[in-house]
Amino acid sequence: MKRIAIFASGSGSNAENIVNYFENSSVGRVEAVYCNNPKAPVIQRAGRLNIPLVLFDREKFYAEETVLRDLQSRKIDLIVLAGFLWLIPGSIIKAYRDRIVNIHPALLPKYGGKGMFGMAVHEAVIDAGDAESGITIHLIDDVYDRGEILLQVKCPVLPDDTPESLAERVHQLEYEHFPKAIEKMLE
Ligand code: GAR
Repeated sequence: MKRIAIFASGSGSNAENIVNYFENSSVGRVEAVYCNNPKAPVIQRAGRLNIPLVLFDREKFYAEETVLRDLQSRKIDLIVLAGFLWLIPGSIIKAYRDRIVNIHPALLPKYGGKGMFGMAVHEAVIDAGDAESGITIHLIDDVYDRGEILLQVKCPVLPDDTPESLAERVHQLEYEHFPKAIEKMLE
């Protein structure tokens, strides 16, 4: 049984979906949720789901190696970034090479990079007049939104879409494909 850690900074709807997906799995289970934002709704979700929560600040993440040590003490095999805002420090990338996976709510390499998070991504897609968007599931290295692409799934951008309606369509793709992609990595 492989041990999964989820990193999230905000709502955590993907985190919840992944926890539920693996609840009765024989392949893996979510051992902890790691969060950098004390106001993030994902904290309440983790509580409701009975998943241990690890809250940390910049100091603990980048200067001390508190988070890395915590991951190792829980014997985490795979790190899943599900709406996580901060760049992963080099020490964690080194310890978990090819074992950190991220989801991005657009078709990388378009609409990636610093500041391209959540609704800002959907606004940029609509402003550009693109006919399609989608999700990218990819491995993480030390540059934002780079690393080997494991899966992309597309959806249409409709003429009357708002960032919110596009976000909803993209979220549905995330819920459907992210847990399965994680499971594939674990097998
Ligand atoms: C998701 O749509 C995810 O793809 C995106 O943040 C959202 C988090 O939603 N991630 C990024 O933009 C990474 N650059 P959630 O908190 O409800 O799971």
